[in-house]
Amino acid sequence: MAKKKAIHDFYRMKASGEKVTWLTSYDFPTAQFAEAAGLDMILVGDSLGMCVYGYNGTVSVTMDQCIVHCEAVRRGAPNTFIVGDMPFMSYQASDEDAVRNAGRFLKEADVDAIKLEGGVRVASRIKAIVEAGIVVIGHIGLTPQSSGALGGHKAQGRTARDAAMVVEDALAVQEAGAQMLLVEAVPPEVAEYITKQLTIPVFSIGAGKGCDGQLLIVSDLIGQFQAFTPKFVKKYCDVAAMITNAMKAYCEDVRGGRFPEDQHCYHMIEGEKDKFIADMEKQ
Ligand code: KIV
Repeated sequence: MAKKKAIHDFYRMKASGEKVTWLTSYDFPTAQFAEAAGLDMILVGDSLGMCVYGYNGTVSVTMDQCIVHCEAVRRGAPNTFIVGDMPFMSYQASDEDAVRNAGRFLKEADVDAIKLEGGVRVASRIKAIVEAGIVVIGHIGLTPQSSGALGGHKAQGRTARDAAMVVEDALAVQEAGAQMLLVEAVPPEVAEYITKQLTIPVFSIGAGKGCDGQLLIVSDLIGQFQAFTPKFVKKYCDVAAMITNAMKAYCEDVRGGRFPEDQHCYHMIEGEKDKFIADMEKQ
């Protein structure tokens, strides 16, 4: 079994150019698969709102939901670096809220780091959480919790002026003390520039291959999430079709009397059947 990676490993990988692999997981079995596959990091993203609960977005996800899913993922992947995602309104109101809720992820779910969305505007939150001794991953570019304010789930930094604002956010996150950064839905040239400028590891989701590592949402990767597929997704299998076909086959077998078969039954212990029939006949 591979040794669990720590923050210094991601810095070493940045220095050597070895890419960090990062995937979301929300439940025990998927976390087991991720650890068996050798993922470096797991994010228990607030995308669980859409991928697990069927919400329209991430805004209604609560701290308690995030903690329960982090606990399950930790049980499934005891030797993987796990990141808890701070849901909407768990850190927006004050530095105190931010520290208290970040602390819950560590105390209750044994995660290794937390992630929160925003750059310049959350610098004081990042600083406060880092000062509490918690590893922080910043998240800039397209930040789904504020997609309303961004005018929808749209790529960011596509003009020179907007790109400069994304760079400003990246610098603010590093300056505030975050140990790593995620850049979402930003042109590859902008993300690569940020990766080269920053000393902390920078990860891409929809920001090209010039970063220190990649993140994908597991439900997209395995073809489970069906509402929409962002441009940056690569689908590696189609579990929706596999599961639906398996369920259809089960229905056909039950309706056709082909399931269960003898091999699926618990037979009576030798000699007990005759006794049972005799007992029943006496009644
Ligand atoms: O919640 C999540 O999975 C995320 C990704 C979209 C980056 O934050």
